[in-house]
Amino acid sequence: MSPSALYFITGSPGAGKTTLLKRVVADYYPAGVEQSLGVTPSLSTTQLVVERVPSAALTSTLTSAIHSLCDAAYDTPTAPLFESLGPGEHLLGFQGTVLVSHLMWVTRWLQPAGARALKTSYVEMVATAPDSQRRGYASALLEKFVSCAGDYDLAALCPATEGLYARLGWRFWQGPLYARKDGRLLATPEERVMILILPRTPLLDLDAPLSVEWRPGEVW
Ligand SMILES: CC(C)(COP(=O)(O)OP(=O)(O)OC[C@H]1O[C@@H](n2cnc3c(N)ncnc32)[C@H](O)[C@@H]1OP(=O)(O)O)[C@@H](O)C(=O)NCCC(=O)NCCS
Repeated sequence: MSPSALYFITGSPGAGKTTLLKRVVADYYPAGVEQSLGVTPSLSTTQLVVERVPSAALTSTLTSAIHSLCDAAYDTPTAPLFESLGPGEHLLGFQGTVLVSHLMWVTRWLQPAGARALKTSYVEMVATAPDSQRRGYASALLEKFVSCAGDYDLAALCPATEGLYARLGWRFWQGPLYARKDGRLLATPEERVMILILPRTPLLDLDAPLSVEWRPGEVW
């Protein structure tokens, strides 16, 4: 198993801010976070342990936990959505040994008209367990995500809620959106996309047309 990083993050209720306390690199063991730490984490209710795991390294136990969490958060079976997204990287937020929050990203190629295609970290399946929401967990994962996206030219997502992302610096793309399919551009006027500027992001005109490669299911 390749090593994975564990990040200890505190989130104080009401503070609206998270603080990275400590980064521990540990071997990743399939059965869960307590084994990867060697001990069961003794964390108070305000602490979240964030673990980054590639899809290929997810155990069946973790996969089930992610699906259960997302099913409950989205109130719909999400396994078909994960299937259509394909593999990516996951950030898992644990409260003690319980998975309480999740996001993942896949690599896509967003292309502003007249510019080169940008290697984009496209965030999907942001979810917090219903009984753990409004404690800053999704915000903590999104903040951690930024430090995981160093190899990308841009980050993007199709938001169901915007305040969460806007507070963290995400901005709506203002120009028209398209999908690239079979050499053609298909307009997707019903969609809205937010982007996050990363250190490698070139100067962007947010009013320009923006396209993404077509995919089955949700194009954006
Ligand atoms: C959207 C979602 C992921 C947010 O997860 P979360 O862990 O509750 O997110 P956060 O706690 O970081 O922030 C959510 C809200 O709680 C507030 N909040 C954060 N910490 C808080 C605290 N300690 N006390 C009170 N409110 C708090 C935030 O300010 C934010 O407020 P806003 O919605 O008015 O902007 C979650 O509601 C969810 O899973 N929804 C269903 C699936 C979904 O729609 N996913 C989004 C796809 S784009």
